[in-house]
Amino acid sequence: MTLLFFFWTIVLSLQLTIAQNVPCAPGEACRVWAEEGGRALLPCHLSRRRLKSSFRQLYKGLALRWVHHGDSSHRKRHLVLMVEPSGVKKMARSTMHRATVWDPGFIRGNFSLRIEPLRKEDSGTYVAVVKFAKEVLRCQVELGVASVTPDSPGPLIESEPIQLTCNSTHPETPQEIRWFHAGLLIASSGRFCSLNQTLVISRSFRSDSGPWVCQLTFADGEKIYATYNLKVIGFAEPAVSVVYAAAGSDAHLPCLLNDNPTDYGISRVAARWSYATRREPKSITTLSNGSNRNFTLHLSAVGLDDAGWYTCEIAIQGTNITKNITLAVMTVTPSTDGIIMEGSRLQLTCNLSYHTGKELFMWKYLGLNPTNMSWPEAASTSFGLLSQGSTLEFPQVLPNDTGTWECSVHGPDGMSGSVQYHLEIAGARIALVQPRAAEKITVGLIAFLVILVSILAFTCLKRRTRSRNFPALDLMLASALPGKEVKDEGQEEKGPQI
Ligand SMILES: *[C@@H]1O[C@H](CO)[C@@H](O)[C@H](O)[C@H]1NC(C)=O
Ligand SMILES: *[C@@H]1O[C@H](CO)[C@@H](O)[C@H](O)[C@H]1NC(C)=O
Ligand SMILES: *[C@@H]1O[C@H](CO)[C@@H](O)[C@H](O)[C@H]1NC(C)=O
Ligand SMILES: *[C@@H]1O[C@H](CO)[C@@H](O)[C@H](O)[C@H]1NC(C)=O
Ligand SMILES: *[C@@H]1O[C@H](CO)[C@@H](O)[C@H](O)[C@H]1NC(C)=O
Ligand SMILES: *[C@@H]1O[C@H](CO)[C@@H](O)[C@H](O)[C@H]1NC(C)=O
Ligand SMILES: *[C@@H]1O[C@H](CO)[C@@H](O)[C@H](O)[C@H]1NC(C)=O
Ligand SMILES: *[C@@H]1O[C@H](CO)[C@@H](O)[C@H](O)[C@H]1NC(C)=O
Ligand SMILES: *[C@@H]1O[C@H](CO)[C@@H](O)[C@H](O)[C@H]1NC(C)=O
Ligand SMILES: *[C@@H]1O[C@H](CO)[C@@H](O)[C@H](O)[C@H]1NC(C)=O
Repeated sequence: MTLLFFFWTIVLSLQLTIAQNVPCAPGEACRVWAEEGGRALLPCHLSRRRLKSSFRQLYKGLALRWVHHGDSSHRKRHLVLMVEPSGVKKMARSTMHRATVWDPGFIRGNFSLRIEPLRKEDSGTYVAVVKFAKEVLRCQVELGVASVTPDSPGPLIESEPIQLTCNSTHPETPQEIRWFHAGLLIASSGRFCSLNQTLVISRSFRSDSGPWVCQLTFADGEKIYATYNLKVIGFAEPAVSVVYAAAGSDAHLPCLLNDNPTDYGISRVAARWSYATRREPKSITTLSNGSNRNFTLHLSAVGLDDAGWYTCEIAIQGTNITKNITLAVMTVTPSTDGIIMEGSRLQLTCNLSYHTGKELFMWKYLGLNPTNMSWPEAASTSFGLLSQGSTLEFPQVLPNDTGTWECSVHGPDGMSGSVQYHLEIAGARIALVQPRAAEKITVGLIAFLVILVSILAFTCLKRRTRSRNFPALDLMLASALPGKEVKDEGQEEKGPQI
């Protein structure tokens, strides 16, 4: 009993899997839905059993005809594709290059017809008749075409509205229509409005880019899907709202599009930066420089006057999109003005001209003489992070605190900046810090002076004894070129001997 049950379960599941793999059983009418512009595959196969029995005779006078019957409204028949027993292929003009059969598939009993790219008028009934030896295989396929059509083609500029209409060649009107974007069902509210078969998006966002899927459900329970790939041009992510720059350094305010409009044939692209401070608003025009995507604004040696709100406005085909960026200028303010005494209490405050309140501050000691203005890797790693928070506190300033301190800030949207402060301490003599170098310089200077004086005295004496004609000239020459003069003297002395 149990065995019998198992047997039937296996047979049933096998049949189920076969049915799933071959949606259109050979010899039976079936229905296929495909999207306009996409690919349709009209199946026509020999069953496995028939293929096994007639495998040898398959090429005996094999003839294939695919005929299109049009849709119910106009029953006009026309030949799509024909393969004669001689192997000659004939094709209709309307589907030439779009309708194909895969010849190597014939030996496997596969006579499927492929149409790509699909047009709306391709919908209707297709009948295939395959003849070989004395056998005939007949396939009938109902092809339906579905589509999502936008009210205006091409990419959308962020904020522009759009209407998407979902349609199919199904003779009935759908009972239900649903829209999906990024796998989520779109509810008809806010900026979305679903009217009959049309979805109205009153204001587009950059995040609306991607596939929009419509699902049509008919009275008989049949579901049809169609997709539209929407492209929205807007500002690139991540959206930077604050840029931090140290006073005196260069700043770059990013203004970048997620795509180049010229790639879509849009040539009218213009950008304008405007700047509003406490004083009158200023307007800066930027050149796009070939790429109509990057409109980054460069500001050299920014000061506190440059801090404030900037607006990047890009006009694309009559639609303007704007973005605000704040330039926060960083400075370091010490708690005491003027000379900082050894042993005194000191606070260094990292001061921003604009705060979001979500900044993270870090203080680092960069060493005595950071050679380059860029991060000296070795120094920052060896001294490490010293403090977090905008204020760095020295309860008692020590001589070894002399040097460069750096405050770096990390903003909420990933932007960062840094400012350096050089701390000089009265009472901490530089000579103490670098005694060797200072000593060397002093000794060198004294030695040089002693040598100079002795050379001068020596040459003056010599000249006076040899030539008395131009003593002043000799003196001038000697003082201008002390080393050279000595050498020349030697050569002069050698000269007469040769
Ligand atoms: C039949 O051929 C088509 C190509 O024309 C192919 O896409 C399809 O997968 C084939 N079917 C089977 C069952 O091999
Ligand atoms: C949908 O398609 C049918 C025929 O395929 C057409 O008659 C109808 O006007 C279309 N509707 C829309 C809204 O495009
Ligand atoms: C939507 O369908 C209703 C009937 O259900 C019809 O009266 C109305 O005109 C249709 N609207 C559009 C925009 O096609
Ligand atoms: C534009 O780019 C070229 C190099 O591609 C560069 O030499 C030139 O300075 C740039 N002009 C502006 C205004 O950025
Ligand atoms: C945009 O241009 C600036 C210089 O003008 C450059 O530093 C930046 O890397 C560019 N950004 C991109 C994404 O090309
Ligand atoms: C769009 O920007 C251009 C210049 O950038 C300006 O002339 C035009 O008035 C702006 N249009 C709107 C609607 O703001
Ligand atoms: C930019 O700032 C101005 C003034 O603060 C404001 O009116 C405008 O709405 C802002 N624009 C954006 C895109 O945030
Ligand atoms: C920060 O700088 C501003 C001027 O830009 C000044 O008014 C303010 O007092 C400074 N704040 C601190 C804590 O030093
Ligand atoms: C520092 O500057 C010197 C020249 O002054 C240069 O040779 C060196 O490569 C720079 N080092 C770094 C890390 O930028
Ligand atoms: C200076 O020396 C003291 C101890 O003598 C030490 O704690 C401190 O970290 C030193 N400062 C720097 C910047 O190296």
